[in-house]
Amino acid sequence: MFNEIHSMGLYGLNAYPISIECDICTGVPCFEIVGLPDTAVKESRNRVRSAFKNTGFEFPSSHITVNLAPGNIRKEGPLYDLPILIALLISSGQFVPEHFNFNECIFTGELSLTGEVRPVNGILPIAIEAGNNGFKKIFVPYNNCKEASAAENIEVYGVQTVSQLLDHMMGITLIDKAPKFEFKQSLQIDMPDFCNVRGQLEARRAMEIAAAGGHNILLIGPPGSGKSMLANRLPSILPDMTFHEAIEATKIHSIAGILPKDTPLLTSRPFRAPHHTASPGALAGGGIVPRPGEISLAHNGVLFLDELPEFSRNSLEVLRQPIEDGCVKISRVSGTLNYPCSIMLVCAMNPCPCGYYGHPTRRCKCSSRTITNYLSRVSGPLLDRIDIHVEVPPVDYEAISDSTPSESSAQIRKRVNKVRQIQAERFHDTNIPYNARMTADNIRKYCPLTDDAKTLMKNAFETLGLSARAYDRLLKVSRTIADMDNEDVIGSAHLLEAIQYRGLDRKYWMD
Ligand SMILES: Nc1ncnc2c1ncn2[C@@H]1O[C@H](COP(=O)(O)OP(=O)(O)OP(=O)(O)O)[C@@H](O)[C@H]1O
Ligand SMILES: [Mg+2]
Ligand SMILES: [Zn+2]
Repeated sequence: MFNEIHSMGLYGLNAYPISIECDICTGVPCFEIVGLPDTAVKESRNRVRSAFKNTGFEFPSSHITVNLAPGNIRKEGPLYDLPILIALLISSGQFVPEHFNFNECIFTGELSLTGEVRPVNGILPIAIEAGNNGFKKIFVPYNNCKEASAAENIEVYGVQTVSQLLDHMMGITLIDKAPKFEFKQSLQIDMPDFCNVRGQLEARRAMEIAAAGGHNILLIGPPGSGKSMLANRLPSILPDMTFHEAIEATKIHSIAGILPKDTPLLTSRPFRAPHHTASPGALAGGGIVPRPGEISLAHNGVLFLDELPEFSRNSLEVLRQPIEDGCVKISRVSGTLNYPCSIMLVCAMNPCPCGYYGHPTRRCKCSSRTITNYLSRVSGPLLDRIDIHVEVPPVDYEAISDSTPSESSAQIRKRVNKVRQIQAERFHDTNIPYNARMTADNIRKYCPLTDDAKTLMKNAFETLGLSARAYDRLLKVSRTIADMDNEDVIGSAHLLEAIQYRGLDRKYWMD
């Protein structure tokens, strides 16, 4: 007897329908799975066989062929266990749910040997795509139920055991439909807040500008001055995440298998801070079984590279293109995978190897040569992508002992949201999300200067020896600062402030 059950496969971030066909006929007893399965799918045979018996059925001693179609796409992971088992039960004639409509249902889940349904990675993209393909119901492992419930257009049922699912299909005991997840942007309660950063007015201002225009930022300062503190707080002042952004970010966490069980949808922007020893693969993604890297896990949020000069050249090099393109391309035999990575980059570093160059009270022990060498490690490719450099000096006693709380993240975020609104209106008929993403053409169009500012730019260009690239970056940051003042035309004060945020360019120029 032959029958067909629907499931979904995953390729990178994309899910697609898979049909599971099962044929049982007389012949030499065997159990074969065909249709480009990987080893995890092949191991499915043993799990399905045990779960089958342990649910109280007799495993057919016939010639069993299970085909996963379409046959030209490689099937990965253990998520086909459950649909394979159902297909087998029906084909063997041991289970006859007469009133159940299989054509509108998707089944996914790994099985334990005793017939429990175990969670799998990537349920959110699967549930979304199942709905898009016209399926009405999806049966998922119970522990994936909350995550799947963020998908619109599909009913979600969480399954704990095979027997429970069979009872549901026979109409004996029904499984409750999972409640729909209502998306509400919220900040994590324990998210670090700007209200407990003392002093550091210049750095706080620079962080606000970075958040307002989506600019990448580099914090430079001695140990303990609060660089990590500032970086950790960036997500708390970024604009609210839209439902679409939340879905995109969650999908990546879902396929990476790091979404907490009770979190159907990320509601605050991700913050990822990989250690400087992280391999290029861990940062950008890839591997034999491809996984999104840190940069994609930070999609729609913040990637923080602390101690930037300690990262290997290779690591920084692999990040360059993705930061530019907003997506990582991973080549595989079967085609190219795309993982999105639209991120804000925050980097931190000491001004020199010992950390105290330029410190008001402590002496730096480094020679000018070691300092130049140290700085040159971050020069070039990655530095080119960072619009704002800001010095974070040690906090003085007055600031640290002042007990009045500083301005809170919520207050800053209100202003950031306003400035993002101005940008959304400016770019409404383009695909530019914010100022930092302007192209050279956009810059010419959207960054008019007052006469004063033009003169200042000319002088800065000649005396600081700025490159054409630095010129574009200055204009982008000035655009954001002018937007914060609600000014259409960039004035000299805006430009002057932007020039201050080119610290490293100036340092190089002096050497
Ligand atoms: N501006 C500040 N306001 C309040 N506390 C601060 C401030 N700066 C530093 N601190 C305190 O000092 C600690 C160290 O700060 P942080 O880790 O951010 O320094 P850092 O600049 O990242 O240092 P390193 O270069 O060693 O990584 C913080 O946990 C905080 O308690
Ligand atoms: Mg630090
Ligand atoms: Zn030093």
